[in-house]
Amino acid sequence: MSIVLEFLGSISWWLWVIIVLAIIAIRDIFFQSKHTISHNFPVVGHLRYWLESIGPEMRQYFVANNREELPFNRIERSWIYASAKNENNYEGFGTDRDIYAHQHIFINNAMMPYNVKEDHPNKLDKSFLPCAKVMGSYNKRKRPFRPASIINVSAMSFGSLSAKAIESLNKGVKIADAYHNTGEGGLSPYHSHGGDVIFHFGTGYFGVRAEDGGFSMEKMIKLVEDNPFIRAIEVKLSQGAKPGKGGVLPGAKITKEIADIRGVEVGKTVLSPPNHKAFSNVPELVDFIDAIAEATGLPVGVKAAIGKLDQWEEIAQIMKTENRGPDFITVDGGEGGTGAAPPSFADHVSLPWIYGFSDIYKLFQKHKIEDRVVFIGSGKLGFPAKAAMAFAMGVDCINVAREAMMSIGCIQAQVCHTNRCPSGIATQSKWLQNGINIPLKSVRLAQYFKTFKKEFIEITHAAGYEHPCQFTMTDVDMNVDDHNLSKEFNNTFGYDKTSVDFNSMQDLKDCVYLGGKYKA
Ligand SMILES: Cc1cc2nc3c(=O)[nH]c(=O)nc-3n(C[C@H](O)[C@H](O)[C@H](O)COP(=O)(O)O)c2cc1C
Repeated sequence: MSIVLEFLGSISWWLWVIIVLAIIAIRDIFFQSKHTISHNFPVVGHLRYWLESIGPEMRQYFVANNREELPFNRIERSWIYASAKNENNYEGFGTDRDIYAHQHIFINNAMMPYNVKEDHPNKLDKSFLPCAKVMGSYNKRKRPFRPASIINVSAMSFGSLSAKAIESLNKGVKIADAYHNTGEGGLSPYHSHGGDVIFHFGTGYFGVRAEDGGFSMEKMIKLVEDNPFIRAIEVKLSQGAKPGKGGVLPGAKITKEIADIRGVEVGKTVLSPPNHKAFSNVPELVDFIDAIAEATGLPVGVKAAIGKLDQWEEIAQIMKTENRGPDFITVDGGEGGTGAAPPSFADHVSLPWIYGFSDIYKLFQKHKIEDRVVFIGSGKLGFPAKAAMAFAMGVDCINVAREAMMSIGCIQAQVCHTNRCPSGIATQSKWLQNGINIPLKSVRLAQYFKTFKKEFIEITHAAGYEHPCQFTMTDVDMNVDDHNLSKEFNNTFGYDKTSVDFNSMQDLKDCVYLGGKYKA
């Protein structure tokens, strides 16, 4: 034995390198048939696979310019990171955007901004910005809800996000007086740290699932009774990244705890079907919404990505003629994010937000029912100027998913579907989650929301208004060509927004249905 060790020890390091390379080359040529490149170019072929694997990071850190990347470019990400950390989020020397570019938007400022008086709610709290409409007031629900913040956390389930991420988001919305949408995975203990919650479910009915995999009204009623912080219910019809696809939760992410909350098997990929079992046409959907609202007393809405309009026309007609229907509608853009989706769906199915929303709003206006619905928008709207555009078009609130993730540390690694999220946010790996400091991250989410609202209020004041609900379609222009051809939004999209019944910020503050700070 000692002779063998002595012999091995006498081999110099460079000979070891040659031996290892020779072994790899023999393996590449004779013992593997999966990779043509490494068979044809033994050893060096591996370099290509390695470079390909680190390509995204190299491009992100070294090659891409500040405005180049998608879904979120470096300037957008940096603005969220700095806002969340309460650091200097300004830029110096002027914009680096080509503001003459096609589709660039401009907000028309007033000659003199809105004058904030000494006793105005925004003098005391620069980020006080509640929704101007009350969910469920038109349909006279028993427990109407006025979201205390116009920016909120969009649907992302426990399962697609880690427990620590969900808990950070929930504690964060509590500080920022916003609401937290549960996403499709049911209500978990991590959603229950005091923030207002919108309970969301899709075709898997997770959290309100009957034995046969359908919807259980009994479970719905019990859930709402046991958890008074649930302020509204959202029925998912579709989402922008994968409309009509149903949900996919990779088996690698299904731990025992997630399986228990959802009522599914550990480690086995869960596909929520494309269709709901609880309804199969538009009248049945409206009946379903009414039944849940009646049984729980809560406002009930739907979330959808927009494409064809015929079924929307049908729901609008029912709402008009029968005086019932959803209390809120969340319109998700085709640019929306997801935990996992096929690229062909994410890239091509459903309209981008700006087109989808304008189609829906116009249709509801045609039936004169736009004022009874709270419109929520989602699809990269978590930036104050983009939000101003969305409010001018008719939204009353916005939901943010990936922007919220970034505020708690997401680095846009785009591996949510692999369970290997390096920031511990979109993974169930205990090791990766351990890096998340919940108290710190919850303050970051809250700080992002507060900074967002403060800047949004400042843009609103610059346009001469007290609340963003007062933005109109003529307050925003879009570059089509030179200034003579740049078009105000009402000309571009062919409608004028209906004015929202807004009196003053003080009235919103005094509203008994106000979420967040409001204690029932
Ligand atoms: C990790 C992740 C999980 C998501 N899970 C859901 C979900 O369960 N249900 C749903 O309707 N949308 C889901 N979405 C979509 C978001 O709620 C949101 O509609 C979309 O990402 C657009 O918002 P954003 O541009 O601010 O990210 C998810 C998005 C992400 C990134």
